[in-house]
Amino acid sequence: MAGTDLELSHAGFTVDDGVALLLLDRAGEQLNTLNPEVAGDIAAVVGEVERDPSIKALVIGSAKTDNFLAGADIRWLRSFDEPARVTEAIGSGQRLLSRIERLHTVMGKPVVAAIHGACLGGGLELAMACGMRVASNDEGRTQLGQPEVQIGLMPGGGGTQRLPRLVGIAAGLDLILTGRSVRPRTALKMGLVDEICPKEVLVDVAVARAREAIGRPTTAGDASGSTFGRITGWLSPKHLQELALEENPIGRRLLFSKAEERMLAATGGNYPAPPAILRAVKTGVEQGPEAGYAAELAEFAALVVSPEAKALIGVFLDSQALKHDTGTATQVSGRPVTKVGVVGGGLMGGGIASVNTLHAGVRTRVREVDAAAVGRALAHVRRGLDERVSRRRLSSREAVKAMQLVTGSVDWIGFEDADVVLEAVFEDLALKRSVLAEVEAVTGEDTVFASNTSSIPIGAIAEGAARPHNVIGMHYFSPVEKMPLLEVVVTPTTADEVTATCVDLGRRQGKTVIVVNDGTGFYTTRILGPYMNEVGHLLTEGARIEDIDQAMTRWGFPVGPVTLADEVGLDVGAKIGRIMEKAYGSRMAASDGFARLVGDDRKGRKNGRGFYRYEDGERKGVDPSVYDLLGITPGPSPGTDRIQERLYLHLLNEAARCLEEGILRRPADGDIGAVFGLGYPPFRGGPFVTIDRIGPAQVVDRLDALADTHGERYTPADILRQVAADGTSFRG
Ligand code: NAI
Repeated sequence: MAGTDLELSHAGFTVDDGVALLLLDRAGEQLNTLNPEVAGDIAAVVGEVERDPSIKALVIGSAKTDNFLAGADIRWLRSFDEPARVTEAIGSGQRLLSRIERLHTVMGKPVVAAIHGACLGGGLELAMACGMRVASNDEGRTQLGQPEVQIGLMPGGGGTQRLPRLVGIAAGLDLILTGRSVRPRTALKMGLVDEICPKEVLVDVAVARAREAIGRPTTAGDASGSTFGRITGWLSPKHLQELALEENPIGRRLLFSKAEERMLAATGGNYPAPPAILRAVKTGVEQGPEAGYAAELAEFAALVVSPEAKALIGVFLDSQALKHDTGTATQVSGRPVTKVGVVGGGLMGGGIASVNTLHAGVRTRVREVDAAAVGRALAHVRRGLDERVSRRRLSSREAVKAMQLVTGSVDWIGFEDADVVLEAVFEDLALKRSVLAEVEAVTGEDTVFASNTSSIPIGAIAEGAARPHNVIGMHYFSPVEKMPLLEVVVTPTTADEVTATCVDLGRRQGKTVIVVNDGTGFYTTRILGPYMNEVGHLLTEGARIEDIDQAMTRWGFPVGPVTLADEVGLDVGAKIGRIMEKAYGSRMAASDGFARLVGDDRKGRKNGRGFYRYEDGERKGVDPSVYDLLGITPGPSPGTDRIQERLYLHLLNEAARCLEEGILRRPADGDIGAVFGLGYPPFRGGPFVTIDRIGPAQVVDRLDALADTHGERYTPADILRQVAADGTSFRG
């Protein structure tokens, strides 16, 4: 084996008996990602292979432990603000990949990718420019996909052209439009990789395949016409049907129009990436690769500088940054947690026990009021495990083992050695205080007491505690298994070590964790308060239920606020409303309509009576009797824009107040909290990104105008006026 004279900073390069081996190895980073320097090293190697007649084949792999190439460096992508610069940079990437393709299609020098670990985005595009792909059979670590759409982008290195050619239009579109990745066995079945083998022999196998293919040209990006052939096991009836559709122009048109329909239904037209992807793929299919690559480049350049992509990239980077935050200024480490007690195993407590066993893998003891309730809590955990077994995410053996982690009781036995006790009993201050006193009596000096209250200040619960420094809030969202956010709430007396312990536990449970300071409603419940109240005002003014919901789903929320009220429970909402009004005064006053509905025994979905009608748990239309009950006659819609503005401005204004009062430690937490906890539209980046995008001065003007018409509840937060007057922004 011989080294070469090439000076590379981000790759190793050796040649052995005519076969060159390039091992990607981005300097100073754990993962391989693409930026101009890394691409420069690949280009240097490709140049060498092109020039040197003694090099007959090339194998491209990685020197990192569990990572092939995870895609473009996102920080680098975010730095672009002009489409022309993107075209230049990404265009040169496209040309580099074409040169790799020419090596095997024109020059007869086989190029084989040796893939282990993440092969995503630009990584998959590099692999697809090769003539053959061999992947490790490590189902846990190796994954292939084009996840760009998840951050508002699309493949820019030929992915929209090579992937459909390799696996078919329908399968290719599915991967690019959903951003989902596939594991080795599936990748093999769909023809995305040609062979899988144990990672220990991966490079040897790739080198052997390269050597066998020397001198035999392949067809660009189309495994079925290549020397290597397409795996025939992939020819399922469904796939044959898709192929039949793809074979003729009418079938293809049908396929594209179906994809467009599905995409519009999924995105509500708020996300520019999916339509751009469809246009690029279609251009390639209808007009050939040249036109396809050009279309991809133009669409990509426009997307990278779009506000939607910038917002989505921001959300991604903020959530990544949170992974390294202990939530304290002192950056102390948390205490080890091997056992958790859960008091109250209802909807939330059952969910918490579930994520403890499923994700964190900690022993969990649930305390309930009677044996039947204990049984329900354990059944809750079992349901979650069974579901994962049926989806093949877990083996039956692992599920049995996980179930052994959780036990229950009606007394305090088994709590004495708990490191953290999580309380999820009814939303009642006196009850929560008495539970805290009981827990303190049976647990040790260092046991953390965390409350999952959704609105009561933690300080109020901690009043009279023997060890107030151990008391903290861990606010989960329903359903706990699905919602990604955990809001950790600290009081001035909470010890940093306690905060760090809970942040760490939350992360082990699979959550994105923000830490906020104590106050009624903390951050998430609080910003929701005036938003939900406004629904009552809009209804009283004659707006229709469905118009309100539709306006906000169009704005980008997964569900409208009226639906949300039915889901959360009108009784729960009314209770929280009273707590909020007591704390923040008349600007948070709920319209008395909610109370009237609760008085009529309308609890929302859970008792089948709310703003909407329910039959056998299934939602039917709006219940018109709500209007009679409220004594109103719905009139013509005030207009979608008007409804949207009346509602979202409350979210922005209240988020600003939370920052002003120090509830939020920084704007980024407010953005992540709203997106991950409340379903705030990710393409808007969160309340602070939205304020910056509209312009703080403009937000203040609109709030002032609404305050003139509707009263002081719209008065802008001082900090908003300040930022507007200074001409600065929240997120920079
Ligand atoms: P739930 O009514 O489903 O569960 C409460 C459970 O606590 C019941 O099973 C009850 O038997 C049990 N319980 C009551 N007193 C007890 C005691 N002394 N010892 C042991 N168990 C006792 O209520 P849910 O929805 O689970 O709410 C629990 C807490 O979580 C509340 O503080 C609520 O505000 C909060 N929360 C609720 C959310 C939701 O969407 N439902 C979201 C976030 C927080």
